[in-house]
Amino acid sequence: MLKIDKIQEKLQTKKIGKKILYLHKTGSTNDIAKKLANYGAYEGAIVIAETQTAGRGRLDRKWFSPKGGLYFSIILKPKIKAKESIKLVFLAGLAVAEVLHEKYGLHVETKWPNDVLVRGRKICGILSEMKTRGEKVDYAVIGLGINANVDVKKEFPEELKTVATSIENELGRKVKLEELLKVLLEKLENVYEQFTKEGFAPVLRRWKGYASFLGKNVEVINDVGKMYGLALDVDNDGTLLVRLEDGRVEHVFVGDVSLQINK
Ligand code: BTN
Repeated sequence: MLKIDKIQEKLQTKKIGKKILYLHKTGSTNDIAKKLANYGAYEGAIVIAETQTAGRGRLDRKWFSPKGGLYFSIILKPKIKAKESIKLVFLAGLAVAEVLHEKYGLHVETKWPNDVLVRGRKICGILSEMKTRGEKVDYAVIGLGINANVDVKKEFPEELKTVATSIENELGRKVKLEELLKVLLEKLENVYEQFTKEGFAPVLRRWKGYASFLGKNVEVINDVGKMYGLALDVDNDGTLLVRLEDGRVEHVFVGDVSLQINK
């Protein structure tokens, strides 16, 4: 059980985490956060659950959410257009990557568009959902699932054991979830402030500092099919640029896309 009042006592943020709803068990924290946002919750409010019974990932995948992981969703009200909302997952991915690297010394990688990996295995997933008003974002809910104090090799379903990892598996010890959450919320605010004041470019630059798939051969799978090529860059709108084998440069937008780094 997380000691929420202890986190809030020490938390040095202006917005993010000022309101926290903590649940022992829920379906999906993203669903609760969306309900709260519909009732007019403040920007920065977060919903955390000790376990989720219906944790969701992108592309309708399940997000396995046993005790020991960190599962939370943040309500944001950025002044951006709906088509720019992809930028928010980069913000969240960057915050997680920097915290795991700076605080725990992990060799993290960011993978386009919204994963954080260690040794090629997923340690964090991000699910962004939003409500729009005309062209604009009314609110966005950014859900983060971090495999923290769980032993993937023992507790995870067979099919995830080779593709996932956890902080515990990487460090060989458990970490204090309260501390992880506190530092993460502060980092999220730092990244979000930079985005609000200076725009996306400096945030993307920081994100690229961890994006070791750039310059490598990748396979991109989407509903059109598969393509292979060299991951050239990520554009200032979050688009992935891939140079195909015939020399054409493909602009890959977010959607039903997954990306596998060729080993
Ligand atoms: C993915 O990698 O496909 C995204 C996974 C996102 C999981 C988090 S856990 C907290 C929040 N609640 C959910 O149901 N999903 C997100």
